[in-house]
Formats: sequence, structure tokens, C-alpha cells
Amino acid sequence: MLIDKISSANGVLRVPGDKSVSHRAVMLGSLADGVTEIKGFLMGADCLSTIECFRKMGVGIDVASEKVTVRGNGMRGLKKPLETLYTGNSGTTTRLLCGILSAQNFDSVITGDASILKRPMGRVTKPLSLMGANIENEYCPLIIHGARLHGIEYDMPVASAQVKTAIILAGLYADGVTLIREKEKSRDHTELMLGAMGADIKIDGLDITVGKTNKLEAVNTVVPGDISSAAFFMVLASIMPNSCVTIENVGVNPTRTGIIDVLRDMGADIKLENIRESAGEKAADITVRSSTLKGVVIGGEIIPRLIDELPVIAVAAACAEGTTVIKDARELKVKETNRIRAVVDEFTKCGIDITETDDGMIINGGADIRGADFRTYGDHRMAMSLTVLAQAAYGESTLDDADCARVSYPNFFDDFRTLGK
Ligand code: S3P
Repeated sequence: MLIDKISSANGVLRVPGDKSVSHRAVMLGSLADGVTEIKGFLMGADCLSTIECFRKMGVGIDVASEKVTVRGNGMRGLKKPLETLYTGNSGTTTRLLCGILSAQNFDSVITGDASILKRPMGRVTKPLSLMGANIENEYCPLIIHGARLHGIEYDMPVASAQVKTAIILAGLYADGVTLIREKEKSRDHTELMLGAMGADIKIDGLDITVGKTNKLEAVNTVVPGDISSAAFFMVLASIMPNSCVTIENVGVNPTRTGIIDVLRDMGADIKLENIRESAGEKAADITVRSSTLKGVVIGGEIIPRLIDELPVIAVAAACAEGTTVIKDARELKVKETNRIRAVVDEFTKCGIDITETDDGMIINGGADIRGADFRTYGDHRMAMSLTVLAQAAYGESTLDDADCARVSYPNFFDDFRTLGK
């Protein structure tokens, strides 16, 4: 696809619902007693995979435009799936399901697309087996034999909300208490939602304690816009001249707002207005205007708070004056693709001065950027980040696979064009 070029970005828009919250609302709604209505649900391919998996386990789920209704089966009400559970491109579906399925009284098999087959699952199967889970393989397909679980104390070796959540979900079924110690705080949507549903869960700084929970109350959810999707337009408005974009109703849970902190550090003009809260999840309208950006160092505890935004932050860095260092971001190597390698290879095609490091990259910004024929590696966030990068380049750019954006943002290219009009 030839990437459209716009000369500035202006307008007011809403981005689709938060992916992490949408997945969790369906999963926890399926385990609840009663009916859960989810408004603002992300109708992206990943979250639809979650719905399909729970339907295969006997949960009644209706989908009508952006509203999803889940008729929960209760903690012990899932049925043995008659087929393999297919999670598509979704790491969140795959890993969170492991936590739930290891505690059922039936066996199940999970698999996904070519990218999922390459993503490490040992990071969830290992702690779950310490709890008594019986899972064959460390890569998909995973064969899960339902088992009786017991609580553990677990020090998280990587900052991963998917791993943390898998253990929490298993902990709801386990005898005794499960204590998880995080090194750095990762997104806490599961903890907030479970707290609202009456689960036995306590948070104390970086420690999470979960007790056996026989019943979850269904709680209606309003999903805020996904800050990881808003990020593309935040960077676009910052780097394009004469731009002003307002993205309404964006989730600004503090475990997700690293992108705002970093862009402000780089000199971006970002205003948050109308901040409100629903079931512990904060949302705001975000306005971003053109600005001159400068390079910064990004590392340490902020990394889990912006991990999915790093490809588009790299775009901001390429357009900034000076050097940006991204470090402590090894996790990028095990995302939908190796995002360190993918960013470095694609940016290099444009003449950007970028170097791969073991845990991130170094970008010397401010040089001329030329258009290129980009590869997305089937990764939605690469497709959208490269579309933003193409705006800062002279000449034409193409994408080999624009369709992969539908995983998290089905209307991305329409919204992008609207901002350019
Ligand atoms: C997610 C956690 C993050 C993130 C992913 C969604 C979640 O992954 O990259 O897009 O919903 O829990 P990790 O847990 O692997 O860091």
C-alpha cells in the first residue's frame, strides 16, 4: 500500500477501546455470576479471538457494534472446548487463558498464528507449574491438563502484565494464598477489575496477594480509548507542523502513561483535560500541538509503562534534535515481532542514524529522512508507527501489509486521513 502523505494533522477524534481492558472484561465477565455489559469494547482481531475462545467454552457472548454482553458462567462454569482454542495474533489471550485453563477440570489445547508460535510461553507455564499446573510445551500449541492448584510466592523475573495476570487468574482457583512480587509496576487493569468484582485480591506497592475466590460479581465496564492507539496521533501531531489533535476519552491509568511523560520530556506540547475515573480506571481528553522535540534517555521503571509505544517513540526520536537512548527494553524482542530489530532495519532504510543495542536502540535524530518500501513483519504497531514515520520523510513510502493494523485499530488509516484533511 502506498502510504498517504498529509501536511499537517488537525481535528478531534476518539480511538478504539483499550485492548488490555477489553480482553480482561470478556475473560472476567465469563467467570462472573450474572451479565456483564461492556461498552467501548475494542472490535479488533485480538479481542475478537478472546470472545471466540470463551464462546467455545460455553459462554454466551453477544456483540453489537461497540457493545458486548457476556452472560457469565461462574468460576466453575466453563465447559470443555470441543476444538483447539485459537488465539490468532494475541499474546494476551494466549497467556491469560493459560492461567484460567490450568485450573479447570478439563483438558484443552491453545494455539495461534505464525507469530504466536514463536512467542515464549515458558514465562507463564513455569510459574503455573509451580502452582501444580500441568502444561505440555513452552511454545504453542500448549496442551493444558486441568489440575488442582495451590498458592505460591513468586518473584517476577520480567515486568510483564500478561505473566502477572496469568498467575493472578490461577491464584483465584488455587488453595491457599498466592503472592506475586513485581520488580517494576506493570499495567494493573486485572487487579482493578478483580477488586471491583469482589475477588480476594490485595495490592501493597509491588506486592499482589490473591486468595481463593469462588464468586465474582458481574460489573458493567466502560472501556476507555487505548492510549497505545492514541500514541500514534500524539507523535504525529508533535512532529507535523501546524498541527493540533485532540483525542477524547483516552485511558490514562498511571501504569500506561509513560508515553506522555517521555514526549513531554522531549519538549512536546500535551494537555490533559476533563480527567475522570470509572472503576479505578482514569480517562482524559488529550490535546497535542506541534513542537520541536529533543532527544532523551528512556530506561528503567518507565519501560513497562510505555513498552508498546516504543516503536512510535522511536519515530519521535528520529524527528528530534539530538540523541535518544532507549535501554532496559529487551522485552521488545519478544513482542509480535522483534521490535528492536524491526525498527532498526526499517529506520535504516530511510537513512536514519540508528544503532541496535542489546536492550534497546540509539537514535541520532534530526537528519533527513527519505521514504522507503517498509516491511511491517505482520506487526500492527510497526504498520502504524511506519505510517507516522513516512510523514516526516521526503518521497513516497509503502507498507507491505497494512491489514495487520486491524489487530488493535481497524480504522487507523481512515482516522489518519481524516486528521490530514
Ligand atoms: C499486555 C501486556 C504487555 C503488552 C501487551 C498487552 C496486557 O505485554 O505488551 O500488548 O494486556 O497484559 P507483556 O505482559 O508481555 O509485557
